[in-house]
Amino acid sequence: MKRIVILISGRGSNMRSIVEAGVAEQWPARVVAVVSNRPDAAGLTYAAERGIATAVVDHRAHASRQAFDAELAACVDSHAPDLVVLAGFMRILGADFVRRYEGRMLNIHPSLLPSFPGLQTHRRAIEAGCKVTGATVHFVTPELDHGPIVIQAVVPVLQSDDEDTLAERVLALEHVVYPRAVRWWAQGLLQLERGLVRQLAGEPQVVGLS
Ligand code: GRF
Repeated sequence: MKRIVILISGRGSNMRSIVEAGVAEQWPARVVAVVSNRPDAAGLTYAAERGIATAVVDHRAHASRQAFDAELAACVDSHAPDLVVLAGFMRILGADFVRRYEGRMLNIHPSLLPSFPGLQTHRRAIEAGCKVTGATVHFVTPELDHGPIVIQAVVPVLQSDDEDTLAERVLALEHVVYPRAVRWWAQGLLQLERGLVRQLAGEPQVVGLS
């Protein structure tokens, strides 16, 4: 059984979709711990109720980013993960932390990267007049919201959309693509080569387009 550690900061709906798909689809991997940088993250309650180990590494208790990253790494390493999954984890991680888990750390970002890295992606997509937006699962590299793309979900931007309606439709597909990406990893179906990710079974690395 491969071991997955998930990092969250809040609601944890992506974490939940991964935990549930892993059990329902009997992946050769399981979520062994959920770690939050916020003690009040709602996702911690869900994880604890499922019998998953939980931990908090509070960024406010650390004087520097390096000190926070070091304690976070120690906490994550104590669960001996094969894969680290960032699921709504809202702290920027330093290059040392990222390199420690290079090639075995995934993130989901609510835009079609490389467009709109950073925050307020839905507002920015609407303001730019984009007709499509979506979400991207990618391997994490030191550059923020960057790195080899595993799968993307494409969502139309409607004239009637505001940030909230768009975020809701994108989130529904996040819950499809993130578990799928983690399943592919668990089944050994992802090949990472020269910054590109191939799905070895030839399954489409895009959702939401017919
Ligand atoms: C998601 O939209 C994710 O893409 C973004 O933050 C949100 C987290 O939601 N990075 P949740 O905590 O998984 O419910």
